[in-house]
Amino acid sequence: MHVPLLIERKRDGGELSPAEIQALVEGFTSGAIPEAQMSALAMAIFFRGMSEAETAALTLAMRDSGRVHRWPANTPPKVDKHSTGGIGDKVSLILAPLLACEGFWVPMISGRGLGITGGTLDKLESIPGFRVNVPEAEGLRQLERIGVFMAGQTADLCPADRKLYALRDVTGTVPSIPLIVASIMSKKLAESLDRLVLDVKFGLGAFMKTRAEAEALGAALAGAGNRNGVRTTLRLTPMDEPLGHTVGNALEVSESVATLQNRGPADLLALTLELCAAVSDRPASVFAAHLASGAAWERFVQLVEAQSGDATALERLNAIHAAPVIEPLPAPRAGILSRLDAGAIGRASVQLGAGRKVATDPVDFAVGFSGIRKVGSPLAEGEPVLTIHARTAGAAAAARTELGAAFTIE
Ligand code: URA
Repeated sequence: MHVPLLIERKRDGGELSPAEIQALVEGFTSGAIPEAQMSALAMAIFFRGMSEAETAALTLAMRDSGRVHRWPANTPPKVDKHSTGGIGDKVSLILAPLLACEGFWVPMISGRGLGITGGTLDKLESIPGFRVNVPEAEGLRQLERIGVFMAGQTADLCPADRKLYALRDVTGTVPSIPLIVASIMSKKLAESLDRLVLDVKFGLGAFMKTRAEAEALGAALAGAGNRNGVRTTLRLTPMDEPLGHTVGNALEVSESVATLQNRGPADLLALTLELCAAVSDRPASVFAAHLASGAAWERFVQLVEAQSGDATALERLNAIHAAPVIEPLPAPRAGILSRLDAGAIGRASVQLGAGRKVATDPVDFAVGFSGIRKVGSPLAEGEPVLTIHARTAGAAAAARTELGAAFTIE
């Protein structure tokens, strides 16, 4: 294989064969193909795109770069959810125990915050003691016992994706549909799922700004799942305002606890139930019943305990992670809240320390926003649009400035 010729062919709009793609991925994973060549190829793919056959070959080659999970025979259907990332999106924490209550196995592999969007692993780690590292044998025992684990990507799952993603992150090649599809779906296919529901977000706080872009990405993701034996259902959901009333790690876990105790906000509840119904083919009402009966909350407590978390901390997380500066952002005048820009809230939450600016940054579990009002709410002059939780008075002031233009009251 002559790598420069393959790069040139892609650069000039030609097509690579499955065997060529597989050799490129293998060579890159083993170190035989240097980062310079893979970066050039990623940029060629960014500009030229990939055919469906090329995307499928890239996805499978990345899946096969590591361990592909084999489940024991005659075990319940394995189900998972993937969201392309939103602001205040804590659905996974509620959906995973709900699906387990219905007898599914939920071997959920989650990520950390990416850009302005939060990550399930960071949220879970705000629970004292919670361990996101679940070795394979332990994960299987946990599924047999309680039907759910929530863990990070292990070192042997799709190493090609880990390497390529790190390269894309620093070469301006993240927003390419074939590269995103191969990255997300190689990991999902390596989990050997039976069913997957995709929540592709669009809007001010999403990676995809328009519904048309989200449709194109969603169709490519769902196609890759369905062609490879994972029954994949797609939902396109708006992300113009944050989901629920909180943004920030411990604040979001607290809101998830309230939702699991059947006291959750309407938008978060509706989306969670819709995704549960979509992946399970069961009516949303059966999942609502698990919230009302306390079964979902009980399952979440079991999950936290199984992964060494302190379940007694769940109802006092806001006290455990109390930010030193907590102050309202008052409405400058009375009226109806007609816009609250999720993207601006996400950027401000990263500035406060709830997310990372570079991969090695620590995450501050305490900071973020609570009491976020929903678009359409009436506000009196001086009433809080939201409450800022900051580490210092200076950080709170910066968030106030950042959010000055993030909302409209009419
Ligand atoms: N998430 C991933 O895992 N990969 C991408 O390329 C984008 C989002």
